[in-house]
Amino acid sequence: MGLTNSGKKTSAEDHARRVRDMFARISPRYDLLNHLLSANVDKRWRRAVTRKLRPLLPAGAQVLDIACGTGDLSIALFENTGARVVGLDFCRPMLELAAKKNRRLSFIEGDALQLPFAEGAFDAVTIAFGLRNLSSVEGGLKELRRVLKPNGWAAILEFSKPTVPGFRALVATYCTRLLPRIGGFVSGSRSAYEYLPDSVSRFPDQPALAALMRDAGFEEVVFENLTGGVAALHTGRRI
Ligand SMILES: C[S@@+](CC[C@H](N)C(=O)[O-])C[C@H]1O[C@@H](n2cnc3c(N)ncnc32)[C@H](O)[C@@H]1O
Repeated sequence: MGLTNSGKKTSAEDHARRVRDMFARISPRYDLLNHLLSANVDKRWRRAVTRKLRPLLPAGAQVLDIACGTGDLSIALFENTGARVVGLDFCRPMLELAAKKNRRLSFIEGDALQLPFAEGAFDAVTIAFGLRNLSSVEGGLKELRRVLKPNGWAAILEFSKPTVPGFRALVATYCTRLLPRIGGFVSGSRSAYEYLPDSVSRFPDQPALAALMRDAGFEEVVFENLTGGVAALHTGRRI
């Protein structure tokens, strides 16, 4: 497209602003809609992350939950692994809701693409339904790896591609026809719930995300399909 560096910066900034404003708008109904639209399956997906990380974490582990939103994964990690958890997000209204749910965790405002932490600060880093929203997936993976200690683990939970064609078609119909209507009606922002299936369709599928993780320098990269591949949990280790 021949964008200059400053053009790239502006489009990344525009993207970030649009995403931040969108989550600020839907924040009051975000949790309700997550549970409603997924029939509570989202809770099971977050539990899959804690189950996977629990045996991999050292005692007294420090975990960073990037794009923590209203904090559901941060809180699940804290309650189920005993780790010290920091949640980070760039949308203040989402963070305020997170902080109200659990006062014992630290929730801080920051950008996933410029994490305010030193290299090697964490034993594990998680990001749930956040990577897809960044202006650069590669940039997000690079930052994620940077703040991990050697041998630390990254866990990425994200919508993905259902593996069985008939089921994939059914999920696509639900996401493009029903979900924007319900999401729009309950949150008052139909565009936010049109953006969701749109951004999922543009996001790398399971093997492509695993390849991007390897390119970013992660080793032992594996993924687990959740609910037939509607979501996937990718993990990788910083060597
Ligand atoms: C779909 S929500 C996921 C929230 C939470 N992890 C969950 O599982 O419900 C995506 C979150 O990513 C955050 N986000 C998007 N881009 C970000 C960025 N560049 N830096 C920090 N947070 C970001 C948004 O503010 C939003 O809270």
